[in-house]
Amino acid sequence: MIENSKLAIIGAGSVGSSLAYAALIRGSAREIVLYDMDRAKAEAEVLDLAHGTPFTGAGKITGGGDIEAVAGAKVVVITAGAKQQPGQTRLDLAGTNARILGELLPKLVELAPRAVFILVTNPCDVLTVAAQGVVDLPPGRILSSGTLLDSARLRWLIAEKAGVSAASVHAAIIGEHGDSEFPLWSQAKIGPTPLLEWTDEHGKLVFDSTERARLHEEVVGSAYKVIAGKGATNYAIGLSGARIVEAILRDEKAVLTVSTVLNNYNGVDGVALSVPVVVGKHGVERVLDVPMNDSEAAHFRASAEALHQSIQALGI
Ligand code: LAC
Repeated sequence: MIENSKLAIIGAGSVGSSLAYAALIRGSAREIVLYDMDRAKAEAEVLDLAHGTPFTGAGKITGGGDIEAVAGAKVVVITAGAKQQPGQTRLDLAGTNARILGELLPKLVELAPRAVFILVTNPCDVLTVAAQGVVDLPPGRILSSGTLLDSARLRWLIAEKAGVSAASVHAAIIGEHGDSEFPLWSQAKIGPTPLLEWTDEHGKLVFDSTERARLHEEVVGSAYKVIAGKGATNYAIGLSGARIVEAILRDEKAVLTVSTVLNNYNGVDGVALSVPVVVGKHGVERVLDVPMNDSEAAHFRASAEALHQSIQALGI
């Protein structure tokens, strides 16, 4: 782990608290600060998490309602903001959460000028563009969790269908973290086997176009289904955020599908979308070119256009 492994989490709601919990259990950071403007809530979450640290190893957790505690953090994860209500899209949250981000980000950058900033608050892609207009940081140091979570959902679904470990499923959802996201089927593999060639024990192709359409729909609908049942998603996004934090604090140079502002990328300029990128101590250190077939390229352009319209509507 790099010398400064202080993680600051902004927002002690279900997502921020779950991310803190995941980071403690995974040992993502040696020091975690959890901040919320609701002091009582933040202090209670910190206390409840701290009580468990005798079982979690080296990490320690502090925090509460004093934003100064963020000072010197190496990674700042922003989870504060309004959350999707049942039936609401992530893009519906853009205006409210862009305003909250505009109020928070300058102070956070003043307190942690060398930090990498990870946006989890939705719509995370739009807010990544908004953030670049609010503070002046190297582009790679502002990213969002993007479709890392959606890719995990797809990998889990494929693993369940194929009867293999999700760790052996290499598949990615790219584009918007939202309704226009799409799977990169042409690049997906199970172990060494291209997913499109995976057969069952009778030699029958498992992931035909019907099954692929079902999986795509299942991934896009995942958050809506969880929100309808329990009001919010939190565990998987918390784990996704902890994974990104680790790649930064351990300077892993890990290839992750997270969202960053793309320029001159497959005809996309000035829009934040998720594609496979190399993540290390400087944040997004390299954006990888992704071979796309015609259908995937068309989906990519449609995803970019959906976000571009939202960005324009916000006047960013
Ligand atoms: C989800 C939220 C994090 O997809 O957007 O669960």
